Formats: sequence, C-alpha cells, structure tokens
Amino acid sequence: MFSETKEGTTRILVPKQPTKSIFYNPKMELCRDIDIASVAAFVSSLSSPHQTYIDALAGTGVRGIRIAKEVGLSVAINDRSKPAYELITRNIDLNAVEERATAYNENANVLLLQNKYDFVDLDPFGSPVPFLDAACKSVKKLLLVTATDTAPLCGAHTGGLRKYAAIPLNTEYHKEMAIRILLGRVTRDLCKYDRAIQPLLSYSKSHFIRLIARVEKGAKKADDCMKRLGFIAHCFACGNRFAFYGYDMLNTESKCKLCGAKIRIAGPLYIEAIKDKGFCELVHNELEHRELGKKKEALKIVETCVNELDIPYYYEHHAVCKALKVQPTTITSLIDALHSNGYSASRTQFSDTAFKTDAGMEEVKGVLKGL
Ligand SMILES: C[S@@+](CC[C@H](N)C(=O)[O-])C[C@H]1O[C@@H](n2cnc3c(N)ncnc32)[C@H](O)[C@@H]1O
Ligand SMILES: [Zn+2]
Repeated sequence: MFSETKEGTTRILVPKQPTKSIFYNPKMELCRDIDIASVAAFVSSLSSPHQTYIDALAGTGVRGIRIAKEVGLSVAINDRSKPAYELITRNIDLNAVEERATAYNENANVLLLQNKYDFVDLDPFGSPVPFLDAACKSVKKLLLVTATDTAPLCGAHTGGLRKYAAIPLNTEYHKEMAIRILLGRVTRDLCKYDRAIQPLLSYSKSHFIRLIARVEKGAKKADDCMKRLGFIAHCFACGNRFAFYGYDMLNTESKCKLCGAKIRIAGPLYIEAIKDKGFCELVHNELEHRELGKKKEALKIVETCVNELDIPYYYEHHAVCKALKVQPTTITSLIDALHSNGYSASRTQFSDTAFKTDAGMEEVKGVLKGL
C-alpha cells in the first residue's frame, strides 16, 4: 500500500496509488526544499535554535518531518484525516524524530486557536483563507503559506472578491498580482491582532504560490504595515500600468494618460517588496550547502529573487513587442538597453520571458524601438 521515497535526508512512506485520504504530491519537493533552506536561514538569524513549528495541514507529514529532521525544530504535525495521521506517526518513527515531532489528528483551526507556535505553515488544497485567521492568531515569528487557487487570485475566475476581499485583474503579470492579493489578505488578517508582516521570500511555480514572511508584534508596526497596501491601475488598451498607495482609488484618474482608454483598478493588494534581499541571499547559501533533490531549480528561483526589482508588476517581453509590432530581441539585450538608458531593470522569477523596470510604458516602447 505504501512505498518509501526520499526528500532531502528524510525517508517518507507515501501511498503507492494516490488516495483521497492521504495526499502526497512529489512535484512539491521543490517547494519543500526551499522551505528547508528558508526555515534554516530564518532560525540562524534568531538568538535561540529552539523554536516551535506547526505543519497544520500535513498529509503524509513530509514537510514537518523534514523540518524536524533537517532543521532540528520541535514540530507539531497535523492532519484531520485519520489515515493521514496514522501515516504521519509511522513517518515520524521511520526518521527517529519522536523527540522533536508530535502527530495530531485535529481540525487545524482548533489546534491553531488553542496554541501559539513560533512558525506556522499552511499548505492547503486550494485557498488558505479558511485557516488564515487562526494562523494569524497563533503565529509568533514566521508564516509560510501556499495557495493553489491561482485562478481566482489571478482574476481568471470569480472568487477573488469573495475569498480575498480584493479585486484581481487578469493582466499579463497575473502571477504577481496573485501573490500581492494574498499578501494583502494576510496583512489585514494579521493587523486585526496587532501584528505586522514582512515578506522574506515569495514566489510562484507551476500551479502554486508560496509566501514566507516574518511576523512582528505591535499596534504601531501593524498600522505601518497597513500603509503598504494599495492598488494597481492598468490600461488594457495600451498596457500602461502604475501602483498607488492607500485607499484613495476614488481620486485616481479614470482614463489612461497615454491613450485615453478606461483605467481598471486591482486591489487592495500589497504594494511593497515581497522579498528581503539579504534573507534570499541567506537562503541561497543554505540551498548550496544542503543535500536536496531539487537544488538546481531552487537555486534558480532564489537567485532570481535576489536580483529582482521591488516593483509590483512586470512586463511580458512578447506582449510589449507585439503591441509595438517589433521583433522581440533577447531579454538580456533589452535589460542592458534599459540600463544604458538610465533605468533600473531586472528579470523576474514569475516568468522567463518577462522583465521589470522603473521605466513607464512609453519609455519601454522607446527603448525597444531603438534596439
Ligand atoms: C495539500 S494537502 C497537504 C500536503 C502536505 N503539506 C505536503 O507537503 O505534502 C492538504 C491536507 O489538509 C488536510 N486538511 C484539510 N482540511 C483540514 C482541516 N480543517 N484540518 C486539518 N487538516 C485538514 C487534508 O486532509 C490534506 O491532507
Ligand atoms: Zn492606455
């Protein structure tokens, strides 16, 4: 019924055939590898290595057991499915981490409301929203959240407003919009409890997005954090886009300054940096020195994050070239040209065919025409 697999230095029993009651997705090894390096990097910045961690929606327990074994934290590993819970206990034994890992068979929200944990990890099916309030009450230092409901978060389906109390737009940078809408939701959930969020590493890969963020306590910090929310204005006619802070969208121009078409507004969402460069460098270093199955892909994501500009949207190279009716050159030559014209520019981990820049749409078009 079960077969043994290995991730990092951890052995894991997983169902031979996918089952409804025990979930394991081998494709998420990359996400778990980045978690291991991120949690290790974060712990190295604390004065004590003794931290508590909850893997609240654990499936086989692979994430939590890896944290216990490969980082050495005390972990609570929970799943409300009885067969999953039984497998978690077997996986704890298999890795001889009984002293650091405890299995629970509870509703995650109950456990989170009853206990405080230094680190809280939510890895749900679909949206994390049903668990966010309890997680925000429970977490003391670090929040790790996955979302796989990317269609509503990106504005491709309805549900953005219902689940996230925000309006996403299905733009060419929808993957980044999804992360920022989710971060906006987390900010508001945390602020209710006088807690603030500081994103450390946020990325998107295939069907999921993942946030890793420091949590800090204090009403003043929470007030400051709310000021990092805002909106993105987008013109679907010419591609013009800009971000603005606060809840002043009623006073934003309704027509595009460049082409006169109607401006659409997305948000509220998190406008500021979604990563901390210094933290990403620490994670990169951890990745390099660990035994990990998806090291190469993980390094690529984190390295791109280190160098990515903190601008809340990106441009798809081909979309801009198509609008201009010019042949696309390489991204590297475009980024070089933007630099030599005095703009900041970088790649983005959201897309291999996109770039970020502080140049506006007209300036981007000007540089592209000159290539
Ligand atoms: C996506 S899977 C977790 C995968 C796992 N974290 C991993 O890395 O392999 C989501 C899990 O949440 C569990 N779950 C769903 N609702 C829950 C709840 N209210 N309380 C606890 N567990 C829940 C499901 O049984 C399922 O195992
Ligand atoms: Zn326009």
